[in-house]
Amino acid sequence: MGAVQPAERDGRTGAGEGRPRRGPDQYHDRIGDGVGDRGGGAIPARLVQALDATGVRVVTDAGVLAGHAIDWTGRWRGPVLGMVRPTSTGQVAAVLGAARAVGVPVQVQGGNTGLVGGSVPDRPSLLLVTTGLDRLDPVDAVERTVLAGAGVPAARLAAHAVAAGLRFGVDLAARESATVGGMAATNAGGIGVLAHGMMREQVRGLTAVLADGRVLSTVGRPRKDNAGYPLAALLVGAEGTLGVITEVELALHPTPPASTVAAVGVTRLADAVAAARLVGGPGAPLLAAEVVDATGVRRAVQALGVADPLPPDAAWLVLLEVADGGTGAGLVPVADLVAAVGTDARDRAGLWAIRERQTEQYATLPGPPVDKLDVSVRLDRLDALVERVRAVVPRAGVFGHVLDGNLHVQLVGAGPGDPERVLGAVAELGGSISAEHGIGRLKAAHLHLARSAAEVAWMRQLKATVDPQGLLNPGVLLADG
Ligand code: FAD
Ligand code: LAC
Ligand code: ZN
Repeated sequence: MGAVQPAERDGRTGAGEGRPRRGPDQYHDRIGDGVGDRGGGAIPARLVQALDATGVRVVTDAGVLAGHAIDWTGRWRGPVLGMVRPTSTGQVAAVLGAARAVGVPVQVQGGNTGLVGGSVPDRPSLLLVTTGLDRLDPVDAVERTVLAGAGVPAARLAAHAVAAGLRFGVDLAARESATVGGMAATNAGGIGVLAHGMMREQVRGLTAVLADGRVLSTVGRPRKDNAGYPLAALLVGAEGTLGVITEVELALHPTPPASTVAAVGVTRLADAVAAARLVGGPGAPLLAAEVVDATGVRRAVQALGVADPLPPDAAWLVLLEVADGGTGAGLVPVADLVAAVGTDARDRAGLWAIRERQTEQYATLPGPPVDKLDVSVRLDRLDALVERVRAVVPRAGVFGHVLDGNLHVQLVGAGPGDPERVLGAVAELGGSISAEHGIGRLKAAHLHLARSAAEVAWMRQLKATVDPQGLLNPGVLLADG
């Protein structure tokens, strides 16, 4: 394809983050769409002039643009007219103003690790890449917060927190490239939700340039502040449709005691939930509870060349990480079930690699790209969900964050209409079609399965108040029309 992604160019590809490679004939768009190839096009002279006045350099080199015009999954690409990489809130405001003045859409892109097509345009657009917003302030040890530019990658922030004796609560396999701005925009989840919550719970304040150019900042405000609508919180999970987040003030957490990771084999997800409920407590909190189905485990084990921890009769591998000082004492309640255990860093990482490999391995299967759904249901409906999914797509792969009720469903061997059938089943079970990745472009036409008509109408009204021309991330989250 000749496309170079930011992660590769910067040499920052991390564990489980290897980028899939696909031929140009294999791109397709939202669920149910066929193959599409959208040409780029020359940047309009009036946009160049408007950007010139801002002093922000616009990149038009076709090779560079190609690397940003395609998403991590290789399924989404779109026409990029030019790319800007502002380094300050003021520059972001100037760029948005210039694009607005000439009526050109702006597509926001962070680390480009999103999995729902929200980071690349679907119509000729100016690409605003946030990785130049890379300032990282010293940790405030009294407030236990840190102010980070939106383009700071999660791994850099996490290392910064560790150096100050604290911990950043959101962790995901895309940590080397995913930016804190992108994570706030998608309200990312990941493997730390049990212990610390999702991204929304980490955001103490933020600065954003709204689509209409107004700058909103809640950075530095006291923690307890109930003066009216929480406007800044609307930007979290808005997927860049209301404004561009330029910096985020994040809560940090005390470092938990050393941990033990256990691999447990079960036949039903209800058993995984029950096992996870047995471990953890005030003295040894449960940090993570993740599942991978047997097929996914076997594929990962083969690719990684590690021992298979799954007992032969088990359908699911459950990884339980408990902060018990690394003694294994936290696992006593499930001792009979434990198939493998990691008490030192190397063994823990070996077990985690099986889990973190999952996204990449489904993204690199031969053949057309596999639809990846990100769904959630109440915990007592997890097995019913898997049953419904496999009744539609028998070879569907499943892994996820089990105690969050969040499964990542990989529709291997799905036929036309199957993704919609699966999403319909999720809705019938009272679940959400977007547990953590967002709606993006992939699921924009299906938002009604998770939100009422009144909610969608209110979202559209809200969008129209700051972006009446529909120029910021058009087609993301809210489908056209
Ligand atoms: P991008 O992909 O660049 O953008 C995502 C969306 O946010 C787009 O709509 C974009 O327009 C918008 N956006 C980006 N930056 C800004 C900004 N500063 N202001 C406004 N809008 C912005 N996600 C999870 O939740 N949990 C996981 O466990 C998880 N694991 C993953 C593992 C792998 C291997 C990969 C490849 C992805 C994984 N993801 C996961 C998905 C992805 O990493 C997250 O969605 C992440 O939050 C995206 O961050 P990003 O900087 O790459 O954003
Ligand atoms: C994960 C991504 C897919 O949990 O969210 O691996
Ligand atoms: Zn996930």
